[in-house]
Amino acid sequence: MRTTIVRRAQFNAAHRVFRKDWSDEKNREVFGPCSNPLYHGHNYILEVRVTGLVQPETGYVMDLRHLKQIIEEQVIRPFDHRNLNLDTEEFRELNPTAENIARIIYEKIRSKLPEDLELCIRLSETENNFVEYPA
Ligand code: NI
Repeated sequence: MRTTIVRRAQFNAAHRVFRKDWSDEKNREVFGPCSNPLYHGHNYILEVRVTGLVQPETGYVMDLRHLKQIIEEQVIRPFDHRNLNLDTEEFRELNPTAENIARIIYEKIRSKLPEDLELCIRLSETENNFVEYPA
Protein backbone atom coordinates (compact mmCIF):
# COMPACT_ATOMS: atom_id res chain seq x y z
CA MET A 1 0.00 0.00 0.00
CA ARG A 2 1.92 3.02 -1.26
CA THR A 3 1.12 6.19 0.64
CA THR A 4 2.46 9.74 0.76
CA ILE A 5 3.14 11.49 4.03
CA VAL A 6 3.73 15.23 4.14
CA ARG A 7 5.53 17.39 6.65
CA ARG A 8 5.23 21.17 6.46
CA ALA A 9 7.83 23.59 7.77
CA GLN A 10 8.57 27.27 7.45
CA PHE A 11 11.70 29.33 7.35
CA ASN A 12 12.46 32.99 6.79
CA ALA A 13 15.42 33.90 4.66
CA ALA A 14 16.84 36.77 2.65
CA HIS A 15 18.16 36.44 -0.86
CA ARG A 16 19.10 38.23 -4.00
CA VAL A 17 18.43 36.50 -7.31
CA PHE A 18 21.08 37.70 -9.72
CA ARG A 19 24.05 36.88 -11.90
CA LYS A 20 27.38 38.39 -10.93
CA ASP A 21 28.36 38.74 -14.57
CA TRP A 22 25.31 40.91 -15.40
CA SER A 23 24.80 44.61 -14.62
CA ASP A 24 22.22 45.68 -12.00
CA GLU A 25 20.02 46.90 -14.89
CA LYS A 26 20.14 43.59 -16.73
CA ASN A 27 19.49 41.68 -13.48
CA ARG A 28 16.48 43.87 -12.76
CA GLU A 29 15.21 43.36 -16.30
CA VAL A 30 15.40 39.57 -16.01
CA PHE A 31 14.76 38.90 -12.33
CA GLY A 32 12.63 41.90 -11.31
CA PRO A 33 12.46 43.01 -7.66
CA CYS A 34 14.03 39.71 -6.50
CA SER A 35 17.32 41.10 -7.84
CA ASN A 36 17.27 44.14 -5.51
CA PRO A 37 20.99 44.62 -4.71
CA LEU A 38 20.32 45.10 -0.98
CA TYR A 39 18.46 41.78 -0.62
CA HIS A 40 14.92 41.11 0.66
CA GLY A 41 13.20 38.37 2.59
CA HIS A 42 10.64 35.65 2.00
CA ASN A 43 8.62 33.53 4.39
CA TYR A 44 9.28 30.22 2.70
CA ILE A 45 6.84 27.38 3.21
CA LEU A 46 8.29 23.96 2.65
CA GLU A 47 6.31 20.78 2.08
CA VAL A 48 8.29 17.58 2.20
CA ARG A 49 6.42 14.66 0.64
CA VAL A 50 7.67 11.14 1.28
CA THR A 51 6.09 8.22 -0.58
CA GLY A 52 6.56 4.55 0.15
CA LEU A 53 4.99 1.39 1.44
CA VAL A 54 3.16 1.41 4.75
CA GLN A 55 5.13 -0.87 7.08
CA PRO A 56 2.85 -3.61 8.48
CA GLU A 57 4.59 -3.51 11.85
CA THR A 58 4.13 0.22 12.53
CA GLY A 59 1.46 1.35 10.07
CA TYR A 60 3.90 4.11 9.11
CA VAL A 61 5.61 5.00 5.82
CA MET A 62 8.18 6.56 8.09
CA ASP A 63 8.05 8.13 11.53
CA LEU A 64 7.05 11.78 11.00
CA ARG A 65 9.09 12.72 14.08
CA HIS A 66 12.18 11.43 12.29
CA LEU A 67 11.26 13.37 9.14
CA LYS A 68 10.74 16.49 11.26
CA GLN A 69 14.24 16.06 12.74
CA ILE A 70 15.82 15.66 9.30
CA ILE A 71 14.09 18.85 8.06
CA GLU A 72 15.17 20.70 11.17
CA GLU A 73 18.83 19.67 10.80
CA GLN A 74 19.13 19.91 7.02
CA VAL A 75 17.00 22.98 6.26
CA ILE A 76 15.73 24.99 9.20
CA ARG A 77 18.94 25.20 11.19
CA PRO A 78 21.17 26.18 8.25
CA PHE A 79 18.69 28.44 6.37
CA ASP A 80 16.26 30.04 8.83
CA HIS A 81 16.94 33.76 9.43
CA ARG A 82 19.95 33.62 7.10
CA ASN A 83 20.95 35.50 4.03
CA LEU A 84 21.11 32.64 1.53
CA ASN A 85 23.65 34.39 -0.72
CA LEU A 86 26.01 35.42 2.05
CA ASP A 87 25.51 32.96 4.91
CA THR A 88 25.28 29.59 3.17
CA GLU A 89 27.86 27.58 1.22
CA GLU A 90 25.20 26.21 -1.13
CA PHE A 91 24.23 29.59 -2.63
CA ARG A 92 27.58 31.34 -2.61
CA GLU A 93 27.81 30.68 -6.35
CA LEU A 94 24.36 29.22 -7.10
CA ASN A 95 21.53 31.66 -7.83
CA PRO A 96 18.99 31.25 -4.98
CA THR A 97 15.84 31.01 -7.11
CA ALA A 98 12.98 28.97 -5.67
CA GLU A 99 13.88 26.28 -8.23
CA ASN A 100 17.47 26.04 -7.01
CA ILE A 101 16.52 26.24 -3.32
CA ALA A 102 14.03 23.38 -3.81
CA ARG A 103 16.70 21.24 -5.52
CA ILE A 104 19.27 21.87 -2.80
CA ILE A 105 16.69 21.02 -0.11
CA TYR A 106 15.82 17.85 -2.04
CA GLU A 107 19.46 16.77 -2.16
CA LYS A 108 20.05 17.49 1.52
CA ILE A 109 16.96 15.55 2.67
CA ARG A 110 17.42 12.79 0.08
CA SER A 111 20.83 11.96 1.53
CA LYS A 112 19.20 11.23 4.92
CA LEU A 113 16.28 9.08 3.72
CA PRO A 114 16.21 5.31 3.09
CA GLU A 115 16.58 4.62 -0.64
CA ASP A 116 13.22 2.88 -1.00
CA LEU A 117 11.32 6.05 -0.09
CA GLU A 118 10.45 8.59 -2.79
CA LEU A 119 10.87 12.27 -2.05
CA CYS A 120 9.25 15.38 -3.51
CA ILE A 121 9.80 18.95 -2.36
CA ARG A 122 7.31 21.77 -2.71
CA LEU A 123 8.63 25.20 -1.85
CA SER A 124 6.39 28.27 -1.71
CA GLU A 125 8.11 31.63 -1.98
CA THR A 126 4.90 33.66 -1.90
CA GLU A 127 1.26 32.81 -1.40
CA ASN A 128 0.80 32.33 -5.13
CA ASN A 129 4.18 31.02 -6.30
CA PHE A 130 5.61 27.62 -5.56
CA VAL A 131 7.91 25.11 -7.19
CA GLU A 132 8.06 21.33 -7.02
CA TYR A 133 11.16 19.17 -7.38
CA PRO A 134 11.48 16.73 -8.93
CA ALA A 135 8.85 17.57 -11.56
NI1 NI B 1 12.83 37.10 -3.82
